Amino acid sequence: MTDSKKAPARPALKAVRGTRDLLPDQTRLWNHVETTARNLFARYGFGEIRTPVLEVTELFARGVGEETDIVSKEMFTWEDRTRAAGEGARGPESKAQSLTLRPENTAGVVRAYIEHQMANSGALRKLYYIGPQFRRERPQRGRYRQFWQIGAEVIGPPSSGSESPLRDAEILEMLASFLDDLGVRGWRLELNSVGSSQDRVRYNEVLRAALQPIRSRLCADCQRRAETNPLRVLDCKVPEDQVLIGALPRIADHISADSQAHFDAVRAALEACGVPYHLNPRLVRGLDYYTRTTFEFTVTTGLGTQNALLGGGRYDGLSEMLGGPRSPGIGFAIGEDRLILTLQAQQEEDAKGSGAAPRELLDAYIAPLTPAQNPAALSLARELRSASLRIEVGDGSFKLRKSFEIADGLARHIVLLGEDEANSEIYTVKAFANGEQTRIPRAKLAEALRGLQSSSTNFVQ
Ligand code: HAM
Repeated sequence: MTDSKKAPARPALKAVRGTRDLLPDQTRLWNHVETTARNLFARYGFGEIRTPVLEVTELFARGVGEETDIVSKEMFTWEDRTRAAGEGARGPESKAQSLTLRPENTAGVVRAYIEHQMANSGALRKLYYIGPQFRRERPQRGRYRQFWQIGAEVIGPPSSGSESPLRDAEILEMLASFLDDLGVRGWRLELNSVGSSQDRVRYNEVLRAALQPIRSRLCADCQRRAETNPLRVLDCKVPEDQVLIGALPRIADHISADSQAHFDAVRAALEACGVPYHLNPRLVRGLDYYTRTTFEFTVTTGLGTQNALLGGGRYDGLSEMLGGPRSPGIGFAIGEDRLILTLQAQQEEDAKGSGAAPRELLDAYIAPLTPAQNPAALSLARELRSASLRIEVGDGSFKLRKSFEIADGLARHIVLLGEDEANSEIYTVKAFANGEQTRIPRAKLAEALRGLQSSSTNFVQ
């Protein structure tokens, strides 16, 4: 076919706006963060839960709240026509059901807690999750339409001690340890209590009355919230509204003696553990299920305006809102994308003046000298990999010089495999760090390649 007859080139397709591919260079850090979380959470008695990314829309309407930004503006929701169970492919379609890609995981976890009757054993449940969430937000640095959360929930019937302030402090102490283990610098814990659900009802009325005379001077969103959900006004980020909002009655002055005592006990336990915190009386959070303790961790490096690294709090009434038994709970979700951005920004700061970040190398590159040695090369690779070494294998079609070029920068050693080596099972091994070339018999090869593994030659600059 001549050029003029070629079909027109098809445009290359791209990832959906607000979603991202994570490539191996990035996933190394993601995996490190996730492994650190899994190991730490296990030490506190948490087990992993995986819930579906699809849930019925009503779960979030009831759990997170119809009036929240998440439910009113940001959910990916559609009417799904599913055939009723037992009907064949040609059967009539059942009624449409509204489904939503989960915008957060707490409602799903509590739904699963109820569905699997986890309250029945009477025990406290400690559950953690790592997975994608979906919100139709305007994408920017640190804000995506598909993003990952690492979260945990502690929930149980009141007799399990699930209401105890010790649980709040334990969660916060675990988060402080997690961020410290990862080496996150300059984190700041902001803490508040929004009182019990009865306290909130009363405070909402106080706020509603206080908002009446100033309503017309607030932004359009706040004018609406002043009517529907006055507490949300405190969360407003519009600069012009801040002076007026700052002068509104404070929730701390309207919570009951019980809620105050609970909050004091959380603070005392945090102080005993040496976890620093800052009181923030305006921290009400963007979800309606919260009662009593609410918190956020912020950072100064890497996130710009989206500086909330994680958020959480208590939700003593959520199980009942979702049709379950009374089961108070507390939990958090870390924005994993934001945590990674923070760590990367820190690494960049650290690398300034010390050159590029080190790259991790494989243990060896096996270079068959001709395609005839490919089977022997693959067999050797299999043996070394099963000895837990990290191996890449060439395919015998490259000239020796090209094999060296590929291997250098990819692996710490090159293992040459020609006909002689295949027969004698004694290999020529070159270590790139010092240029040394040695001949090593097969039985000693794994040990020799590993021998240098822990030395500083593990990384190239
Ligand atoms: P949230 O504050 O809505 O809480 O989200 C928690 C964290 O997820 C935020 O602090 C932020 O780091 C991250 N995040 C939220 N939206 C985005 C986005 N569009 N792009 C990137 N990261 C984002 C919850 O989701 C609650 N379920 C937390 C919780 C658990 N409360 C009790 N248990």
